Amino acid sequence: MNAQLDALKDQMSACQSCDLCKTRTKVVFGEGSHEPLLMIVGEAPGEDEDLQGVPFIGKAGQKLDSILNYVGVSRNEIYITNAVLCRPQSNRVPRREELDFCKWRLDLQIKLLKPKLIVLLGRTALEQMRGTPIKGAINKYFFDKLTSNDGWLHYTVNGHEAKVLITYHPSYHLRSPEKAYRETLPHWQKIKAWVESQKAINGSN
Ligand code: URA
Repeated sequence: MNAQLDALKDQMSACQSCDLCKTRTKVVFGEGSHEPLLMIVGEAPGEDEDLQGVPFIGKAGQKLDSILNYVGVSRNEIYITNAVLCRPQSNRVPRREELDFCKWRLDLQIKLLKPKLIVLLGRTALEQMRGTPIKGAINKYFFDKLTSNDGWLHYTVNGHEAKVLITYHPSYHLRSPEKAYRETLPHWQKIKAWVESQKAINGSN
């Protein structure tokens, strides 16, 4: 239970900061543990999420569930949110100003939840965290170039530093399953090893 997070959820349920509020059905706030093992950030709610107000419950969500199963974590051990909380019509990519309006909310969630690891699913999640657009293709070279010496990216909010890993969005797995599997297996193996080490430390294995 986290009263500040609950208050933020209430506040966001009536958000009218950007034009996405005109076409959304429900604001899709983050879901999961308030003491999460890790946090996952996607792009934006799709149609199923918009109707039900829950992140990642459509086809991409089912793919994410199978990946989480491989990693060895359940949804109630982690926290899942998106770069923006409202569905862009026809699932278009969120615009820069829409991302900007939602950034303080993502940062506040990180501040309140203090995840040790944040997994970014795709370009939009990374752009949201960085606050700037990213030029060029997202590929293996891009991932490798981004990573610092200890093999992770890092992000600090209010003195809390989280490790960050960027990987492809689950919708890429749906479009190009074999390629996505090959290219993302090292990412998810790394996350799995990290989760196992954390569970060993916490004695929750
Ligand atoms: N894709 C996302 O990025 N987020 C969701 O919640 C659903 C699909």
